[in-house]
Amino acid sequence: MIRHSAAAAFGRHRGMLAVGGVDVARLAERVGTTPFFAYDRSLLDARIARLRSSLPPDVELSYAVKANPMPAVVQHLSHLVDSFDVASVGELRTALDTPLRPDRITFAGPGKTDPALTQAVAADVTVVLESENEVPRLAAIGDRLGLRPRVAVRVNPDFEVKGTGVRLGGGSQQFGVDAERVPALIRRITETGIELLGLHVFAGSQTLHSERLCEVQRRTVDLLLRLADDIPVPVRYLNLGGGFGIPYVDRDAPLDLDAVAANLSELLATRLRSRLPEARVALELGRYIVGECGVYVTRVVDRKVSRGTTLLVTDGGLHHQLAASGNFGQVIRRNFPLAVANRIDSAPTETVDVVGCLCTTLDVLGRGVRLPHTGPGDLIVLFQAGAYGLTASPTAFLSHPPPAEILL
Ligand SMILES: Cc1ncc(COP(=O)(O)O)c(C=O)c1O
Repeated sequence: MIRHSAAAAFGRHRGMLAVGGVDVARLAERVGTTPFFAYDRSLLDARIARLRSSLPPDVELSYAVKANPMPAVVQHLSHLVDSFDVASVGELRTALDTPLRPDRITFAGPGKTDPALTQAVAADVTVVLESENEVPRLAAIGDRLGLRPRVAVRVNPDFEVKGTGVRLGGGSQQFGVDAERVPALIRRITETGIELLGLHVFAGSQTLHSERLCEVQRRTVDLLLRLADDIPVPVRYLNLGGGFGIPYVDRDAPLDLDAVAANLSELLATRLRSRLPEARVALELGRYIVGECGVYVTRVVDRKVSRGTTLLVTDGGLHHQLAASGNFGQVIRRNFPLAVANRIDSAPTETVDVVGCLCTTLDVLGRGVRLPHTGPGDLIVLFQAGAYGLTASPTAFLSHPPPAEILL
C-alpha cells in the first residue's frame, strides 16, 4: 500500500517503487552503489505542463538552477522553461552548456567577484544587481572587454509578508537593493551606459499558502509599477519571483496553484499589461519544478535495538540529504515521507527510527516511522528529494563517498 502522495507520483514495478519505469532494486544494480539520487524526467515534464496549463500563457518560467544543478536535469529543463537563473559561475557554466540562449540566463546572487562578473558579461548573460557597488565594477569590465553589460536590478522590497516560509526580502537584507534607493541607482546605471533590462523581486521561498503568495504578488506588482515610473527606458523584463512551496511533512497541504495563477492573470490583465506592455514577465521557480520529481535511495546496513527502540542504520544520511534530517530550514524536526522501496505495497508492522551512518545524533532520516519489517539489504527511499538535496548537504562531512545522481 502506498501511503504518501509523494510516492503515488512514482510508478511501481514487481512490488517495488519505480523511477522512470525501472524498479529501485534494478536501479541500484545499474548505478552500482547506494546511496543515490534518482530524478524522473516524465515527472519534470508533467510538472512544467501543469504550470503552463495553469499560469497565464504570457508568463515566462525561469528555472532557479540552485534547486538542482545536475547537468542532465538542467539540460532537460532547457527545452521546457524560458530562462534560467544562476547564482554562481559553476551554475553559469552548466546553464551555458545547454541550448538556451545566453540572453535567457540571469546571474543573481550576492558577492559576485570581478572574475564572475567578467565571465557573465563575456557570456552575454544578464547580471542581476544585488548591490549598487556592482555598477562601477561592471562598467569597468564592459570598458575593458568592449562590451555593454546588461543588467536587471534586484529590489529588496519595502514590504514583508508574514508566514511566507523562508523570507528573502524586506527589512535589512544581503539580497538586492533597498526599494527606496532604486531610483538613484537606475539613474547611475543609465548614466554609465549599462543596458538596463528591468527589475527583479524575490521575496521568499517555500510558501504553501496561496493567499500569502497572492498578497506577495500584488505588493510586488505595486512596487514594480511604482519603480518603473523612474526608468527612462522601456522596461523589458519584470521578474516577480516565486516562492511556490511543496509539501514536505504530514501536516503540509499542497499549494493551490490555480488560485495563485488566477491572481497573477488578474494582475497582468488589470495592472501590468496596460502600463508596461513591452515587459516580459517571469516567475522564478526552483523547488516547485524539481522537488517532487526526485528520490534519495539508501540501503539498510544494520538493524539494532537500543533500549526498546528499533533502529535501521543506512548507508546514507544527512551528508547527502540534510533537509530530511531536519537541519535545513526546519525549527522542529518532522519526518519527510519515506518508505521501504523494495516492498512498497507491504503494510506497516512496526515502528522504527531510520538513521544515517554519520557519527552524530543529528543524523536521523525518520523517527518513529511505521514500516513493514525491514532489515539489512532493504532499500529505503526518501521522497521530495529533487531540490536542495545533494548540493545543499555537507557532503564532505566524515569523508564518505558522494552519492550518485541519475536522471531517468
Ligand atoms: C533569488 C532566488 N531565486 C530563486 C530561488 C529558488 O527558490 P525555490 O527553490 O524555493 O523556488 C531562490 C531561493 O533561495 C532565490 O534566492
